[in-house]
Amino acid sequence: MNAIDLLKEDHRRVETLFAQFRENENGTNGALFKKIRDELLTHAHIEEKVFYPDLLKRGKKDLKAIVREGLEEHGQVKKLLSELDKMTPRNKAFNPKLKVVVEDVEHHVEEEEGDMFDMAEDQLTESRLETLGAEMETEKARFQKRMGIKPSREPQIKKGVLDTVMETTKDLVTGAFLASDESKPSARKTGKGNGSGEKRSSGSGNGGGRSSRSSTGAKNQRSRTKASSSARGSARGR
Ligand SMILES: [Fe+2]
Ligand SMILES: [Fe+2]
Repeated sequence: MNAIDLLKEDHRRVETLFAQFRENENGTNGALFKKIRDELLTHAHIEEKVFYPDLLKRGKKDLKAIVREGLEEHGQVKKLLSELDKMTPRNKAFNPKLKVVVEDVEHHVEEEEGDMFDMAEDQLTESRLETLGAEMETEKARFQKRMGIKPSREPQIKKGVLDTVMETTKDLVTGAFLASDESKPSARKTGKGNGSGEKRSSGSGNGGGRSSRSSTGAKNQRSRTKASSSARGSARGR
C-alpha cells in the first residue's frame, strides 16, 4: 500500500477512537485510552522509523521543516501519553489530559494531511511511496509484536515501554536537527539531490485528505500553534 494511503488509514482509525472519547468525555476512559495510546504509538513509530527519515533525506527545505515540527509534536504527545499511563482513569485530570492529546493529534494530522503529505507526493516518486508503504507495514507488525500490542486493537502494552519510545523520539529529533545543519550548505551546493529526478508528474489528485478534514477539535488546537503554522504557510506562499 502507498505510504500516504496507509498513514491516512491509520489517521481515520484513531479518529474513530477520538469520537468515542468525545461521546464520553466525562465518563471513565481507561480502556479507550489504552486503545488510543497503542494506535498512536504504533503510528508514530512507523512514521519516525520509516517515513520521516526518508522525507528528511529526500525532501526539500520546506518539507524538512514540517517533518521536524512533526517530530516535536510526536514528542509532546508521547509525553502526555506517558503521564496518562501513570494515572488512574478516575483522576480528575485524566479526561482533560486525554482531551489535550486528542486535540494535539488532530492538529498534527491536519498538518500532515494538509501540507506534509502533499509535499511528499510532489517530491517523492510513486514507487518510492509504495516502497515506504511496504516498509511501514512490515515495521508496524514488528513494533506491535515487540510491544505486545495486538493488531486487533486489543491493547496490552508492556510497562515502561513509553520511556523507551520517548527516548527514540528524542534521538530522532536531535538527529533531524543535526542532519539539517549538515545538509544546508551541501544541499544547495550540489543542486538538491532529489529535485528533478524524484519529482512525480503533477496532478496526482491527492488533495482529498485535506478537504475531508475540517474537524472542530482541531480548530481549538490550531489557535494554540497558529503562529508557527501561519508563519510557515505564508513563507510557502500557499
Ligand atoms: Fe505524525
Ligand atoms: Fe500521521
